[in-house]
This record gives sequence, C-alpha cells and structure tokens, in this order.
Amino acid sequence: MPSKNKSYLKSESLKIVGHGKLKGSIEISGAKNSALVLLAASLLTNEKIILENVPWLTDIEKMINILTNLGVKLVNKNNKIEIDSRNISIKELPFELVNGLRASFFCIGALLAKFGEVQIPLPGGCNIGLRPIDEHINGLKKLGAEIIIEEGIVKAKLKREREKLYGTNIKLTCPSVGATETLIMAASLAQGRTVIQNAAREPEVQDLCQMLKKMGAKIYDSGKETIIIDGVNELHGCTHKVIPDRIEAGTFLIAAAATSSSITISPVIPNHLEAVIHKLRETGSLIMIRDNSITIYGKAIKAVDIETAPFPGFPTDLQAPFTALMTIANGESKITETIFENRMNHIHLLNKMGACIKLDQNTAHIKGVQNLNGMDLVGSDLRSSAALIIAAIMAKSTSRIFGLEHLDRGYENFESKLSRLGIEIKREFHKKILIEKEYKLDSQVIKTSEFKAA
Ligand code: UD1
Repeated sequence: MPSKNKSYLKSESLKIVGHGKLKGSIEISGAKNSALVLLAASLLTNEKIILENVPWLTDIEKMINILTNLGVKLVNKNNKIEIDSRNISIKELPFELVNGLRASFFCIGALLAKFGEVQIPLPGGCNIGLRPIDEHINGLKKLGAEIIIEEGIVKAKLKREREKLYGTNIKLTCPSVGATETLIMAASLAQGRTVIQNAAREPEVQDLCQMLKKMGAKIYDSGKETIIIDGVNELHGCTHKVIPDRIEAGTFLIAAAATSSSITISPVIPNHLEAVIHKLRETGSLIMIRDNSITIYGKAIKAVDIETAPFPGFPTDLQAPFTALMTIANGESKITETIFENRMNHIHLLNKMGACIKLDQNTAHIKGVQNLNGMDLVGSDLRSSAALIIAAIMAKSTSRIFGLEHLDRGYENFESKLSRLGIEIKREFHKKILIEKEYKLDSQVIKTSEFKAA
C-alpha cells in the first residue's frame, strides 16, 4: 500500500536483492486505466454506481479526491467503491487536484454532457511526452460544445440555445484512448447518433462501454474501429467489476521471463495479452493459458524486436519492462516506441546497470549482455520504474530503486506480490527527504516502525 504521507514519498526506496527467481502464483489487480475512466463515467448518472475490483493506487486516490471535491459521495471498502453523484454542485475541477493526473481530464465529457458546462485545467500526467488534448477538444466541438482555453483552463459549454450535445460523425486523427473515452461518455447523453471513426480499441475502452451499457447507454461495436452511440435521455445506476490489469499481468510475465522463472497469474483475460504472449513465446518462454490464468515457464532468452502499437498491438505501457528483459537476451534486438515521443527514460539507467543499448530517437538497439549490476537508481515515470525493478531482480548484486511516487501510481502492492513470489524486496524509508539531485547520496535508513511514529 502506498504511503499516505506525501512528503515522505520521495524518501522511499525499494531495496532489491539481485539474482532473484520467481515462484508460485499471484492475483492480478483491477485495471488502473479502466477504474479511472469508470470513476469519471459514474458522473453521468444520479443513481448509485458500485465499482468492484478497484485497485488501491495513488492515481485512484487522486481521482477520488477530485470527485469528492465536486460533491460526489464515495464509500470505499475492500476494493469496492460506492459512488453517489446526485449532489454535484461544482463543475470546476481545481488545478491542485487535477495537476499530475491526466485521466482527470477525462471527466470533461461526462460533466459537459450532464451539466452543459465545465471548466477543467489542462492535464498533467506521466513524464512521457506532450500528450496533447486536441482530439478530445475537436470531438467535443463537433458534438456541439463551445470551448476556449484561457490561462491553462479549458472552458467548455453548450452552444447557445442548445439544451444538449448532439450526435455527429467524428473521425479521430489518432486512435487516442482518452479521447475515445471522453467522446463515448459525452455522446451517451447527446441527442441522436454519434459515429466515432478510428476509435481506440483498448480493453479499457471496451470496459467503459460495458459499464455504460449496463447504465442504459446504447453503444454498438465497441472494440471495433468504428463505434456507434445512440444518445439516451438519462443513465442509471449499476454494479460493475473492473477488468483485470493487463499491464500489471504483462509486467509479472516479463519479470518471470527475465529470471527464467515459472509463475502463474490470475485472473486475466488472455486475449487482452495476445501480443505480449506472442512476443514472450518468441523469446523462448513456454506459456500455458487455462481459462482466466496464465502460467509461464521462463527459458533461455532469445532477442526479439518489438514495435509498440495501439491495441491489439504490443502495448506502449509494457515497452520499458520488455526492454529490461532484452538487455540480457542472446543476440541483438530493436525496440521501437511509436505512441509517445518521450518514453525512453529507462534506457540510460539500464546502461548504467551494464546494459548495452544505443538509442536512436525512439528506437533502442540492444546487444544482450550476460549480467546487469545492482545500483541505486531513480525511476522517472510509472513504467520505467517497473523496468528498473525487473532489472534489479535480474542484476548480480543489490539495488535501491527510488522515485516510488511513480510506481505507486499504477501497481497495487507490487513489492508484496514480488515478495510472495520469492523476491527479496523491501521498502525503506529514509530520514532525509531527498530532492532529485540527491537521490544517490548516502542517506540514513530508518526502520518502518520509526517512520510510522513520525
Ligand atoms: C492511455 C493510458 C496510458 C497508455 C495510453 C496509450 C489511461 C489513464 N492512460 O493514455 O497508460 O499508455 O493510453 O495506450 O488510460 N494524442 C493526441 N491528441 C489527443 C490525445 C492523444 O495527439 O488529443 C496522442 C498522444 O500524444 C499520444 C497518443 O495520442 O502520442 C496516444 O495517447 P492516448 O491514447 O490519448 O493516451 P492516454 O489516453 O493519455
């Protein structure tokens, strides 16, 4: 569980003993990216939504704070959240809460459709590129919104004399996950039919459509490139279980492949992981799929090339962990990032550990080495932190990975799951709050019990 005391976040690290092997089975949590958008979608109804299998993560906490600030009542117990949006009074999202959580911007479609106006600061998020919002804005304008951006605030309202958004044809320039979700939510309460072409097909988009359909939305062909939505007058309450996190699942499979280990993960939806399973099999791993569980038997690692792509292609969110795996493969591999322009933050850190990677813009050319060396390093975004942890498990000696504020955004109980699989891993709390430049300074480690008392 991530620390609640934010001022201490930067002074935490994971101490990982290298040459680890994973053994046994673990449970995969609910999907972060689904849960975030489903929380936003709950704003579309005045009736109660019950979300099950919600992972407990700092990104989810941030989204809950944003909804609470709008006047939503949330009751949260054992990964189950009851959401009551009846009494929303505010339609402005405060900058301090929105900053750092890109997904909070996805509330724009729901709030605009329900209230006819909304003001949201431009979103923050992971340090992995520009991540513009033009697809969201252009689509909402086509649905009948007037939108201006003033001093960093996106101000959206219905065109004069309009009581609702109205259905239209929208062709996305790129199949943005967030924009597809924003527009589906907005179109659900619009007047008439909306057709979204070049829509994202990610499982999280499909999960959103499943929940909206339970709420009474009329959505056809989710999971295809063209989605059709017939707007309805109102949406109702429902109970919905968040799908398993395919990125968490993929991260554990990659960790097992990287350490020639055998583990079983469940629950998963295997066809959400097809591209990843295919590539892991190419590296030499044996993979068995049975219902909602996957068992991997890691073997000697062959080098393979990957290129990230929208679903059903290889997910950009697993590019960094897969790069860590390729550092010790037999042979040379080429990894190309095509979705984000700045998602190679892990390369120079893996090189520090002894990897042999040449970066040419968004392509990493990797020559496999025998071993990596343990080190103290700082993760700079969510998935690069996961990559460093996998590298630390593979390495010859002990490592400390800092920057856990990124990891805690997206992996529920990561270290306790790894520990259950047999990895020697421990969260340490340092007395000094380290600033970025100081991460590598020696710092006195204190016991967890002392930290809790502080
Ligand atoms: C979501 C996921 C993230 C994942 C990404 C791609 C959530 C909370 N996050 O992010 O984990 O890595 O999908 O699978 O669900 N773009 C534009 N204009 C826009 C929107 C996006 O040009 O209006 C570009 C982005 O800069 C990026 C690409 O499209 O290069 C993909 O972004 P998008 O699919 O929107 O990612 P997110 O929804 O932010």
